[in-house]
Amino acid sequence: MVHKYKVSFTNGSCLGANTCNSINIKLVGTDGESENAEMSHSLLFLVRGYAYFVMSCSKSLGKLVQIELQKVAILKESDWFPANVTVRSPEGQTYYFPIYHWITDDQVYVFREGKALKASDENLDKCKDVREKELIKRREAYCWDTFKDGLPHCLKADDPQDLPGEVRFSFTKETQFFITAIEGLIHQVLTERKGIHEKWSNFEDFNHVFGFTTTKISEHVQKNWDRDEFFGYQYLNGSNPTLIQRCRKLPENFPVTDEMVSLYDHHSLTDEMESGNIFLCDYKVLDGVRPNVIESIQQHLTAPLVLLHKNPDDELKPVAIQLKQQPGKTNPIFTQCDEKYDWLLAKIFVRSADFSEHQLNAHLLRTHLLAEVFAVSLLRNIPMVHPLYKLLIPHMRYTLHINVLARQKLISDDGVFSLIAAVGGEGMAKVLKKSLSSVTYRSLCIPDDIVDRGMETIPNYYYRDDGLKLWGIINRLVKTILKHYYKNKEVNDDTELQMWISDIFKHGFLSNTSTGIPDRFSTVAELIKFVTMVIFTVSAQHAAVNSGQFDYGGYMPNNPVTLQHPPPTQKGKVSEKTLFMTFPEILPTVKGMETLWLLSKQSSDFVPLGEYPEEHFSEEAPCKAIEKFKNDLKHLSSAIEKRNKSLDVPYTYLNPLKVENSVAI
Ligand code: FE2
Repeated sequence: MVHKYKVSFTNGSCLGANTCNSINIKLVGTDGESENAEMSHSLLFLVRGYAYFVMSCSKSLGKLVQIELQKVAILKESDWFPANVTVRSPEGQTYYFPIYHWITDDQVYVFREGKALKASDENLDKCKDVREKELIKRREAYCWDTFKDGLPHCLKADDPQDLPGEVRFSFTKETQFFITAIEGLIHQVLTERKGIHEKWSNFEDFNHVFGFTTTKISEHVQKNWDRDEFFGYQYLNGSNPTLIQRCRKLPENFPVTDEMVSLYDHHSLTDEMESGNIFLCDYKVLDGVRPNVIESIQQHLTAPLVLLHKNPDDELKPVAIQLKQQPGKTNPIFTQCDEKYDWLLAKIFVRSADFSEHQLNAHLLRTHLLAEVFAVSLLRNIPMVHPLYKLLIPHMRYTLHINVLARQKLISDDGVFSLIAAVGGEGMAKVLKKSLSSVTYRSLCIPDDIVDRGMETIPNYYYRDDGLKLWGIINRLVKTILKHYYKNKEVNDDTELQMWISDIFKHGFLSNTSTGIPDRFSTVAELIKFVTMVIFTVSAQHAAVNSGQFDYGGYMPNNPVTLQHPPPTQKGKVSEKTLFMTFPEILPTVKGMETLWLLSKQSSDFVPLGEYPEEHFSEEAPCKAIEKFKNDLKHLSSAIEKRNKSLDVPYTYLNPLKVENSVAI
């Protein structure tokens, strides 16, 4: 009796996914294996990206567990990116095999059926064997490396071309990235031709450069950058919303007195601190860092302390600024009662320090570098058929590629940062190391972080409001899916899962127990919290610190990449001329703007949070959880859009429609 298996292939939607080569396929079931069958190159397959054919077997293969695929070149090699294979058995059962893997040679590749399985769920030796071999191969392809001592470890790859096809940018993304960079270059050439000299002489000069590329928010910044309430607002809803904390007691190195500051209705600083209306931003991570030298000019970077007050109108305004950590006669505490340019220059030094703190700590370290650690550990330790792989792999898209590019072009010794930023050069690694020592597990989990920073009740903190809701929605998805696969004991016994977290602890947090990062999981609850943090960090948190880079940094005076005049050591000596001597020169400014533009721009193959074009899960429970997730995100998006209509400056960065699934830019 002949047993017929109906096999359908679907190719990926990326450019170049279809192949003109022949395909050999073998079906493997619990009761036996088929012969190798050849699907010759069909025009339909090449053009439409799908194909269908029937395989005949002399006996039933039982339950199908895996397929083997081999691409055979006829005249010339043609790469192939199959998305999935579906097989309908003679018993009427449909089996789904997710693939999403580039096949570029004539080796035999084995892919598992879609049901998610932990190692303990495997019954067949041949499946256990495939599982082990897959990880051996991946550990060869994805190796750990050290970029600089004291930083999270990274993937060993010097160039994006060295990366396996699965983790590289698609052709579309690569082309677009290149075009955006070219646009930036054209902008720079235009700027040079406009005859702007090396130094700024008045605020009009900024408009020549700034006018080419703007956003609604960057235009708002241009108009409001020097206003105290806007300075305060940015700590809540700008691109660096996690530095601010409530201040119940002044730090010993910041001796502000009641007499120094002027608050509403003669309220004292002490009273307002007790009432919970005083906030602190401390840039201590920048202390002791030697600033860069650019084109033989010594640059300047300070490590300020900033005190802010929330007034009865719910405006957050700075009331005292000390530019260096060590108090003293040459390190005055500036207040809003000082002369206009003294106060403005102090705020400019803070905004420049904020550029460095934000880019290196909040953005690079706490999202990009950690996302890479989560991804490399996943690829090395978790096989494709594992539920954690299926859940997390869409959230790792393009992360390795963008980070290899960042190490090559942005933070290398001759990268953009070293050429234009005060914190570039040798200071960069020092700031990153100090920043890593300040990372705790609680600070990566927004519900804990908000409590620890005492930011539960301050009004108009949209990062907090939207972020907590997103955390809750992500947490529900993770909980539903992981509880479907795990009981507590199974967490303990899952060696692949334990290797994943152990590698993260070791390679990401350098085995530092004081971070509170777990080195193993004992309960499902621990696993759920950690995985929620991973997805939140690589999607929402990255969007919060990435998407507003040009909005808030595009107009240079609001966020200077560097400053080239020393900070004031006494009051009453600053004029408007001092500001122009202090701002960076035109070329670093333009290069900085272009970099921020490139890094804030949404690419056309952007995948928003909750969209999973690659369907790794096939079972009902996880698929239903994903549908619910999408629905929850849609509701949140509508609520955010409704809220934003009533705001002068809309807070869009955590609107799920604008949050990317992964660190991809
Ligand atoms: Fe980014």
